Amino acid sequence: MDGLDTLRGRYLGAIADAADEAALEAVRLAALGKKGEVSLKMRELGRMSPEERQSAGPALNALKDEIASAISAAKAGLQDAALAERLRAEWLDVTLPPRPAQTGTIHPISQVTEEVAAIFGDLGFGVAEGPQIETDWYNFDALNIRPEHPARTEMDTFYMHRAEGDNRPPHVLRTHTSPVQIRAMQAQGAPIRVIAPGRVYRSDFDQTHTPMFNQVEGLAIDRDISMANLKWVLEEFFAAFFEVDGVETRFRASHFPFTEPSAEVDIRCSWAGGQLRVGEGDDWLEVLGSGMVHPHVLRSGGIDPEQWQGFAFGMGIDRIAMLKYGIPDLRAFFDSDLRWLRHYGFSALQTPTLYAGLGA
Ligand code: DAH
Repeated sequence: MDGLDTLRGRYLGAIADAADEAALEAVRLAALGKKGEVSLKMRELGRMSPEERQSAGPALNALKDEIASAISAAKAGLQDAALAERLRAEWLDVTLPPRPAQTGTIHPISQVTEEVAAIFGDLGFGVAEGPQIETDWYNFDALNIRPEHPARTEMDTFYMHRAEGDNRPPHVLRTHTSPVQIRAMQAQGAPIRVIAPGRVYRSDFDQTHTPMFNQVEGLAIDRDISMANLKWVLEEFFAAFFEVDGVETRFRASHFPFTEPSAEVDIRCSWAGGQLRVGEGDDWLEVLGSGMVHPHVLRSGGIDPEQWQGFAFGMGIDRIAMLKYGIPDLRAFFDSDLRWLRHYGFSALQTPTLYAGLGA
């Protein structure tokens, strides 16, 4: 049959030239499709004599098969090449970290608050909270600070604005966390063991004072709690907090309206070489105020002072954070300077616990 070699050459050439599967399909249709050249030739077989058909039939079939298998070989080749290209382009570095690097950090105040709560939690203290806008009864009177008491002015209290003609006692921004003692006693009764961390406010501003700062209050009331229990609890706390074997405390007689007797507490430390070391050396660092809860304060909290007694203390969170993490200026805590936050901040994924470490 004439022209078969020409057809063969043309189609095998077109198959070799096809750049993608669409081009290959076009070649297939042109040759083997219903109206394809090879198919049309097949149809001519019917009009041939039996002798002609005998030689043309196998030749045409062979051509048809050759083209079909050339197409499928070319198709497989194109698919392999496409896969190889995809593998190259979609290359994935499995050694890259699974998440983008963390950018935010936990503020040292939050970190230290968590650390304090973890340590006192281990000693059996719960966490109590109270409002930052207090009545002056909770902030002062209930704590045995009478209206004429100098503490009211000493504390540089912020008073909330009152509408004209409103003669109710004013609200204040709480000047300490001590009012939470009263709220916790009223809510839970005795016995009770709580700490109360939180923000407090005083109108004062210099390197060691900011109008807003943070305190943690401690309160333990039971039948026979004494100053000895207070001393033990504080020494346990400071050893755990500063991550040293032991910390000696020194109690100095003091006065607070809400405790009797009252003591200011220092911890033993060394400043040798300009670096603070807690628990060793011959210096003392004042860290908190404390005492035995005044009977008047117990009564304000609805607790009978004939039946119950206990200790309380109040400590600056910002101050112990500065000491532990070597932060020189209190004001920087509240500047929101990103460089400072990145430097002094903590990983959000590391919750302070006693067993895994506090300030890793
Ligand atoms: N409230 C005191 C202050 O802000 C600190 C304090 C002293 C709290 C003695 C106490 C305490 O609970 O017993 O300066």
